[in-house]
Amino acid sequence: MGFKEQIDLTRLPQHIAIIMDGNGRWAKNQGKFRALGHESGVLSLKEIMESCVEIGIKYLTVYAFSTENWSRPTEEVNFLMELLISTINQETATLTKNNIKLNAIGNIASLPQKCIDDLDSAMQKTSANTSCTLTLALSYSAKWEIAEAARKLAQQVKDGKITVEDINEEAFSSQLTTLDMPDPELMIRTSGEHRVSNFLLWQMAYTELYFTETLWPDFRSESLYEAIVDYQKRERRFGKISEQLI
Ligand code: IPE
Ligand code: IPE
Ligand code: MG
Repeated sequence: MGFKEQIDLTRLPQHIAIIMDGNGRWAKNQGKFRALGHESGVLSLKEIMESCVEIGIKYLTVYAFSTENWSRPTEEVNFLMELLISTINQETATLTKNNIKLNAIGNIASLPQKCIDDLDSAMQKTSANTSCTLTLALSYSAKWEIAEAARKLAQQVKDGKITVEDINEEAFSSQLTTLDMPDPELMIRTSGEHRVSNFLLWQMAYTELYFTETLWPDFRSESLYEAIVDYQKRERRFGKISEQLI
């Protein structure tokens, strides 16, 4: 039996987050330029996105470019920005066909203007779609996001809109870029790295973490189903003991 058949569709995670890692190593293993790894990574994302829609995952959030990635060689950063623009423009129709809403989180204002404009237009075109929300984390850093939320709350206190006593977990979450999404139940990182690299630190407080050696360009639908089956075998206790969960 394949992994897909083993999935219990009544207990799907609503939100899956993915750190799509290993593009560079995938290309290097074949003696190719890193750019080819990134291009192949887009194909994996397309496949995973379509599989999420097919099985009924409501939110897919992928780490596409971190704040720290700006420190890569200029040629690679430029290539990634170009790839982002061409992918958005080529895939808007696919998003619409699959009824997927496009969303972006991160310091979007720091992206090249063309990226901002094309992202805006694709988000507008897909804004009424309802099957799944695909969120691209771009120029994203969780520490940046948390500091921004703290700054916004401080400003609201200063302006007399809220009091210090109003600041609680809910108020804080409502200032994050993920405000209208549930926290991810499952986070997948490919390429054998066991770290979260500044991704969704607040939102992953109780997320199940899944690590695989598979490099992102090799990550296929079956790999996603395998991760979901693994997730469904886990007991999520949220601090309680097993006997309390029955
Ligand atoms: C992930 O693959 C894509 C981005 C970070 C943009 P990498 O480019 O990090 O690939 P490796 O980790 O060097 O193999
Ligand atoms: C994390 O991958 C960021 C993305 C996948 C976009 P990196 O390859 O940049 O992370 P580190 O440097 O290995 O932690
Ligand atoms: Mg990497």
